[in-house]
Amino acid sequence: MQIAIIGAGNVGRALGQGFARLGHGLIYGVRDPKAEKYAEPPVPSARVATVADAGAAGEVVVLATPWAGTESAVTALGDLGGKPLLDATNPIGPGFALTAGHTDSGGEQVARWATGARVVKVFNTIGADNMSAPDYGPNRAFMPVAGDDEAACAVAVGLADGLGFEATRIGGLAKARLTEPLAMLWIGLAMSSKDRRVAFGLLRR
Ligand SMILES: NC(=O)c1ccc[n+]([C@@H]2O[C@H](COP(=O)([O-])OP(=O)(O)OC[C@H]3O[C@@H](n4cnc5c(N)ncnc54)[C@H](OP(=O)(O)O)[C@@H]3O)[C@@H](O)[C@H]2O)c1
Repeated sequence: MQIAIIGAGNVGRALGQGFARLGHGLIYGVRDPKAEKYAEPPVPSARVATVADAGAAGEVVVLATPWAGTESAVTALGDLGGKPLLDATNPIGPGFALTAGHTDSGGEQVARWATGARVVKVFNTIGADNMSAPDYGPNRAFMPVAGDDEAACAVAVGLADGLGFEATRIGGLAKARLTEPLAMLWIGLAMSSKDRRVAFGLLRR
C-alpha cells in the first residue's frame, strides 16, 4: 500500500520506519520538500513531496503534524476523494493543555477541515518512540481506533496490528474526545516516571 505521511517529525518518522518494515511504500508530505533537511528522506525507501502531492499519491494519508500546523496541512491536502485520513495529532495548545474535550475533539476538528476524507483517530495515545516496533514481550500495547467509517477504521486497525499493537475500534470519531485525554495521561505518566516506554494494555478474563 502507498502511505502518505504528512509531517516528518517524531511520529512521522517512527510510523514510516514501521510501515516500511511492513513493506508499504511511503511518501512524506512536508512544507518545503527542497529543504536541506530532506536531502536524505526520513526513511530510506521514502519519497519527499509537497503536502498536496503526497496526499494525491497516497492510498492512505497519515496526519502527524503539530496541532498549530494541522489546519494548514489538512487544507493543503485538498480533496482526498474518500481516502482514509489517519489522524495521529493531539490538539495540544498553550500551557500544554488540550484545546478541545468532552464536547469536541481534535479528530472531529480535522474532519471539519478536511475535504473528502474518512477521518480515523489512531496512533495518538503512545509516545513516538514506541510506534515503529512496540515490543512488550508476550503482551501487546493497546491502540484505540476511533472513526465513523468502518472500512477506514479497518485500514487503521490493520496497520496498527501489523506494527504490533492490539488495535481495537472503540467507536465513532467522537470517541477521540476520550483518546485525546488518554494521550495526556500517557504523557503525564511518561514524564513522571521518566520512562517513555510505558504503554496501556487491555486485560481480559
Ligand atoms: N511525539 C510523540 O511522542 C507523539 C505521540 C503521539 C501523538 N503525537 C502528536 O503527533 C503530532 C506530531 O508530533 P511530533 O512529535 O511528530 O511533532 P514534530 O516532531 O514537531 O514534527 C512535526 C512535523 O510536522 C511538520 N509540519 C509542521 N507544520 C506542518 C504543516 N503545516 N504541513 C506539513 N508539515 C508540517 C514539520 O516539518 P517541517 O517543519 O519540515 O514542515 C515536522 O517535521 C502532534 O500533533 C503530537 O501531539 C506526538
